[in-house]
Amino acid sequence: MTQQQDILDNLSTGVIALDAQLRITAINASAQALMEVSEARVLGQDAGQLCAEPGELLATLRQVTTDRTPLARRGMSLTLHSGAPIHLDLFATPILLEGELETLLLELQPVDRLQRISREEGMQQAQETTRAVIRGLAHEIKNPLGGVRGAAQLLARELPDDGLAEYTRVIIREADRLRDLVDRLLGPHHQLELSMINVHEVIEHVRNLIDAESDQRVTISRDYDPSLPDLPGDRTQLIQAVLNIMRNALQAAASPEQCHICLRTRSQRQYTIGAHRHRLVCRIDITDNGPGIPEELQQSIFVPMVTGRADGTGLGLSIAQSIINRHGGQLECESEPGRTRFSIYLPMERHNDTTS
Ligand SMILES: Nc1ncnc2c1ncn2[C@@H]1O[C@H](COP(=O)(O)OP(=O)(O)O)[C@@H](O)[C@H]1O
Ligand SMILES: [Mg+2]
Repeated sequence: MTQQQDILDNLSTGVIALDAQLRITAINASAQALMEVSEARVLGQDAGQLCAEPGELLATLRQVTTDRTPLARRGMSLTLHSGAPIHLDLFATPILLEGELETLLLELQPVDRLQRISREEGMQQAQETTRAVIRGLAHEIKNPLGGVRGAAQLLARELPDDGLAEYTRVIIREADRLRDLVDRLLGPHHQLELSMINVHEVIEHVRNLIDAESDQRVTISRDYDPSLPDLPGDRTQLIQAVLNIMRNALQAAASPEQCHICLRTRSQRQYTIGAHRHRLVCRIDITDNGPGIPEELQQSIFVPMVTGRADGTGLGLSIAQSIINRHGGQLECESEPGRTRFSIYLPMERHNDTTS
């Protein structure tokens, strides 16, 4: 492999080179991932082989070969061979050699049309701020609470009249309830205990739990990539994160019988999380066929105490997200009625637990 090829394959932008007859002469890793094609299959083929309905793409390419001037097409919609739609920005640059078109260089960048929750940096920052405020508040509540509880216990011992003891019991019970709430707000606070874990073992564990919780009434299908290597993670905490997400899917369904959850794992190359680009990340998709996340909640489901359920705490996703973030990973969500997908991205390589 040449150094140039190496460089190309490490770009996050999809790059495709075509000859004057619009045959594919090079395609980098990002473009292969984006178009869901393999280099082996498309090299030497017509550019029309890149997607299912190439009419619009070909028309654009022909225009560039005729005009011989660079062209940018933003938000172009294409259909992949799998039938999935993608939207991308396309930049086409003709490279001329002695007046003749030698190469047509294409740069492809995906554009997200679907609601992407939590990806945007500004939103992540806002969520982190909210979490920090809540953490601070939780700590402030916890300390005096210990005092209140202790004092009530002392008081109970000194009370002359047993009839009054009920009042101190109420104080103690409610103080305990508040403490539990505060603990949950603070989330898992101990350090991650990292070991090399098999994500499929984690997911299967949760699958069994959900199966049991629903009396085997949900349908859970699996589409695993068996070649995924083990990765560094805190098994217990990752189980918690996946469980919170799957349980939501179950709870959102009208009935367990109608609930269909699909678990999918893949490795994904060249993925950016925050400011970090990873050569390889593990991606876990948890998709359900439920009603979808209510529109008005879509921007805030990861914020602690935001819930759409009467008996919800609104902590499940916030905890899941913070666990995954502490693994250096990312939790994303796309939702529409009938299809809600949470995607967990976890880096394959070791990382430092940055948050406390
Ligand atoms: N798979 C899903 N389908 C529909 N709505 C969901 C799904 N997952 C989460 N939600 C919505 O997000 C809200 C927040 O979830 P979560 O943080 O786990 O808190 P809780 O489950 O206690 O409400 C839920 O109340 C629900 O309205
Ligand atoms: Mg929940």
